[in-house]
Amino acid sequence: MDKVGNISPQDYDQFKLFLEQACGILLGEGKQYLITSRLTKLLRDENIPSVSALLKAIEIRQPRHLRDAVIDAMTTNETSWFRDQSPFEILAKEVFPSLDKASKRQCRIWSSACSSGQEPYTISIALSEYQAKTSSSVLSNAQIVATDISMSMLATAKQAEYDEIILGRGLTGERKKQFFKSIGDRWRVTDEIIRRVNFNQQNLLASYTSLGKFDIIFCRNVLIYFSAERKTDILNRMALALNPGGYLFLGASETINGYTDAFEMIRSPHGVFYRLKTKA
Ligand SMILES: C[S@@+](CC[C@H](N)C(=O)[O-])C[C@H]1O[C@@H](n2cnc3c(N)ncnc32)[C@H](O)[C@@H]1O
Repeated sequence: MDKVGNISPQDYDQFKLFLEQACGILLGEGKQYLITSRLTKLLRDENIPSVSALLKAIEIRQPRHLRDAVIDAMTTNETSWFRDQSPFEILAKEVFPSLDKASKRQCRIWSSACSSGQEPYTISIALSEYQAKTSSSVLSNAQIVATDISMSMLATAKQAEYDEIILGRGLTGERKKQFFKSIGDRWRVTDEIIRRVNFNQQNLLASYTSLGKFDIIFCRNVLIYFSAERKTDILNRMALALNPGGYLFLGASETINGYTDAFEMIRSPHGVFYRLKTKA
């Protein structure tokens, strides 16, 4: 089988419902081509003849691996090093110094849709650079929890090895030299950067209570795929997962406006970010 084939309106509606309930991703109208392009290989590998048969298999047998593989195929994993730059300047110039002054306990950071690892490793690089400039004791043992729904992205992230092209997306030559080791034709993130990061699978639709409390949450370029109700629910639960005065970073095209009033927006010379409001 080369193609998923025609998808009936009923199957399309059922697939949309499955995807939204499984991971929050909303497929708009007329996105049959997306299913075709993303699922053809999976259906061929699993010897499943159609989307209709796939839906039946998921509904009847509920095989975990098949559910995970469909979610893997349907998620968009686009990412890069120091993506958008502004959040990392804000970390270095505003957030790290403020946590450094205010806090006595270990700093905890959550990269909540970490994709193939560039975001949490970038945060770890920012921490190392900050430490090299200051003698921060609070940030010296900072911990980064990196989560994603996609098991294949988590496997890539944990491997911490990237090729030259991927490295070229956002990394300066200086940082490459300092924070990566060459292994054959690939580059491995140095242990100093890896050791702060712990990877786990976490669906943003599920409870966050087992993750503990954080000082900073990165939730970038994932809310754009979700409905307004999901955004409100996720942002309000992220507010509960933050320590008092904790910080939230969203993607460049994302906002809290209209979804939650748990955060105040801070417009700094380096960009926009959010801080948990103190209760009156
Ligand atoms: C476009 S990438 C963003 C990566 C990174 N945050 C950045 O801004 O470069 C979106 C990520 O969100 C993940 N994702 C999608 N739905 C999710 C969910 N319900 N729970 C957790 N992660 C999810 C995808 O697997 C993907 O890796």
